[in-house]
Amino acid sequence: MSTILDLVSHISWWGWLLIGLALVAIRDVFFQKQHTISHNYPIFGHLRYLFESIGPEMRQYFVANNREELPFNRIERGWIYASAKKENNYEGFGTDRDIYQHQHIFINNAMMPFKLPENHPNHEDKSFLPCAKVMGEFHKRRRPFRPASVINVSAMSFGSLSAKAIESLNKGVKIAGAYHNTGEGGLSPHHSHGGDVIFHFGTGYFGVRSEEGGFSMDKMIKLVENNPFIRAIEVKLSQGAKPGKGGVLPGAKITKEISEIRGVPIGVDVLSPPNHKAFSNIPEMVDFIEKIAEATGLPVGIKAAIGKLEQWEELADFMVATGKGPDFITVDGGEGGTGAAPPSFADHVSLPWVYGFSDLYKMFKNKGLSERIVFIGSGKLGFPAKAAMAFAMGADCINVAREAMMSIGCIQAQVCHTNRCPSGVATQSKWLQSGIDPTLKSERLAQYFKTFRKELIEITHAAGYEHPCQFTMKDIEMNIDDHSLSNKLHSTFAYEKTSVPFLGMQNLKDCLYLGHHPK
Ligand SMILES: Cc1cc2nc3c(=O)[nH]c(=O)nc-3n(C[C@H](O)[C@H](O)[C@H](O)COP(=O)(O)O)c2cc1C
Repeated sequence: MSTILDLVSHISWWGWLLIGLALVAIRDVFFQKQHTISHNYPIFGHLRYLFESIGPEMRQYFVANNREELPFNRIERGWIYASAKKENNYEGFGTDRDIYQHQHIFINNAMMPFKLPENHPNHEDKSFLPCAKVMGEFHKRRRPFRPASVINVSAMSFGSLSAKAIESLNKGVKIAGAYHNTGEGGLSPHHSHGGDVIFHFGTGYFGVRSEEGGFSMDKMIKLVENNPFIRAIEVKLSQGAKPGKGGVLPGAKITKEISEIRGVPIGVDVLSPPNHKAFSNIPEMVDFIEKIAEATGLPVGIKAAIGKLEQWEELADFMVATGKGPDFITVDGGEGGTGAAPPSFADHVSLPWVYGFSDLYKMFKNKGLSERIVFIGSGKLGFPAKAAMAFAMGADCINVAREAMMSIGCIQAQVCHTNRCPSGVATQSKWLQSGIDPTLKSERLAQYFKTFRKELIEITHAAGYEHPCQFTMKDIEMNIDDHSLSNKLHSTFAYEKTSVPFLGMQNLKDCLYLGHHPK
């Protein structure tokens, strides 16, 4: 025994290294069957897997140029990070974009910008920018709601995001006077720090789920009564990253707390079905919306990604005929994000925002419905110039998901589906989220929203307007080739937006239904 120990103690470090490598080689060749590459090239085959796993980071840090990456390139991410930290978010020397590129957009500036009159609310608060329309006004809901910010946090559930991230977002919207959409996972204590909330549910009915797994109106009524900060309700039909797929929450992310809030087992994948149990056709869906609105007094809307238009046309006709229907429609673009989705869906199913929104808005406008609906847009719209385009096309508000995540520290690692998010934003690991300080991160979200609104107001003024709701389809051009061929949006998309009644920023400030806005 002592001779063996003696022999072992004489093996040098490189001797141990060689023994280790020999063991790996034996395992590669004789004992594993899963990987042909490591069988055929023992030891060296592992390098392939290593390089493959660190490739995205290497490209992000060293290789990709400023405008190259997707979903968000370095300039876009940098703008959000700098805005959220109130750092210098300008660029020097001029744009690094090829502004002759196909589909590049231009905002036509006025010869002389809009001049703020004396006592204008934007003298006091340079980022005061509420929604120009009131949700639920047309249908005379008992508790109409005018979002106090045109930019808001899009649906992302507690489950897909960490408790600390949800808390940061909720505290952040409170500071910025925006709203926070709960996402599909139900209302949690982390959503209840005082910001305005839009309660969102999908086919899983989490938070308002009956014993049989359907929708419970009693639970809905109690939820709204007990939580007066819920200002509106959103019924999810689909989202851009996976229309027709239903929700997916990987088992790795289902902790005890989440299992209690959602009423699902710990550690088992939760797949919500593609269809709602509560309705199967347009009249039933409208009836469902009206019943919720009647029972809660709140505006009720729907969220969807756009593809075929037949059922939307049926909805529009039904709304015209009955005077009933959703108070708001959130149009999500095919480029939208998700906590988890199959790439074939994320890449290919549903139209990009610009195509989907223009198809839908045009149809609703032609049927005389655009004035009674608040249109919300989501799909990489959290940048002032893109938002200006969205407003010109008919959007009234913007929802942001991944941009909001980045403002609180997300580094676009694109591993939301694995529970290993390194920034602690999209994971349930206690260790990974322990680095998030919700007080600091809430300030960051709020600052991003304020900077976004301030820049959007400045662009609006540059175009000669007071509020972005005044943008028309003629104010924005899209590159097709040279200027004689570049098209104003109204000729590219063949519609004019319905002008939004706007009586000045002071009028919005004095509105009885204005959401929480910090004075
Ligand atoms: C982590 C994560 C979770 C999401 N969860 C939901 C959800 O529960 N329900 C939903 O309708 N959309 C969900 N979405 C989609 C977003 O709400 C949003 O519509 C989409 O990401 C487009 O916005 P963006 O481009 O600003 O990210 C999620 C997105 C992300 C990134």
